[in-house]
Amino acid sequence: MSTRFAQYLEHEKEVELADIAKRLTAPGKGILAADESVSTCGRRLQDINVENTEENRRRYRELLFSTDSELSENISGVILFDETAKQSDSSGASFIKLLEKKGIIPGIKVDKGIVPLAGTWNECTTTGLDGLKERCEEYKSLGIHFAKWRCVLKITKFTPSYQAMFENANVLARYASICQQAGLVPIVEPEVLPDGDHDLETSRRVTEEVLAFQYKALADHHVYLEGTLLKPNMVTPGQQYSGPTTSPEQCALATVQALNRTVPAAVAGVVFLSGGQSEESATINLNAINNVPLRRPWALTFSYGRALQASVLAAWQGKEENIKDAQRELIKRAKANGEASLGKYKGGVEGAARGKNLFVKDHAY
Ligand code: 13P
Repeated sequence: MSTRFAQYLEHEKEVELADIAKRLTAPGKGILAADESVSTCGRRLQDINVENTEENRRRYRELLFSTDSELSENISGVILFDETAKQSDSSGASFIKLLEKKGIIPGIKVDKGIVPLAGTWNECTTTGLDGLKERCEEYKSLGIHFAKWRCVLKITKFTPSYQAMFENANVLARYASICQQAGLVPIVEPEVLPDGDHDLETSRRVTEEVLAFQYKALADHHVYLEGTLLKPNMVTPGQQYSGPTTSPEQCALATVQALNRTVPAAVAGVVFLSGGQSEESATINLNAINNVPLRRPWALTFSYGRALQASVLAAWQGKEENIKDAQRELIKRAKANGEASLGKYKGGVEGAARGKNLFVKDHAY
């Protein structure tokens, strides 16, 4: 393919995107993923016996976003869901403005969910390209500066297939290119699910292959890498693996090796998903990753959903009188992960979720 006919971004747009990506991965900071769809948010609320109504979802998000501005010491950005991006707090201030005032950058999930990939053994791709350009332009005008799109790859004896790796890498690259043209930094999320009984080595090999497809596709679509973030899984054995225990140091080494072999140094940062690890494991593994004695040219930090919210939900239980306690849980976890992103977490910060395993089979977001 000749690059001579490609349409590249204007220089000013590149500068703007690189600046947003840099602020999102500033030292000691990471991202809060609060972009659960209506049904996923419903499952979280159901766990604490709160009904899944629009008002209850709004109340929960208000709890998160009205946390003391101390939160912004460790949270650089928040990923919203479309419904949330248009909601306001009880005083009428939009959530976007509320976050901006705290110095937290609002982001948004722009994919429309996982669908089956025909002709494969139960593999999938992600929809949402139709109308994406217009949605991105609207979000940018509302004050949103980054986006997320999640693709899912599955480890079984015969998967991920070439077809699934190719298709998911390509759709993520098309999404990334559209976002950048609208001035949004794309978070590229090709998640290799933790479901399965595979060992660490298999997880590393598959993650490497998936990332190799990903960066070839991003190059093919002329995506400006300095204005992107990668959101990968950490390399861990499968959830049903029954072999000897794997240490955080072993997972961290395998993770950094996989990244070093596939992710260009130009990429602004890597923001891991928590993928069903308990809050404390997600923090300890991130800390170990930031202590691996290998070259690490990118910021390595967090973009956690479950591992930042489990204790908040457990403390809240839907009750007004518990809001302050729940917000303290959020600050506590954000601080712990902020330290881990610098490799300085000492361990032992327990939350109201008490080390609960957050794994969800075949997780949808
Ligand atoms: P978890 O941290 O709960 O895996 O989710 C992060 C996310 O944004 C998945 O798309």
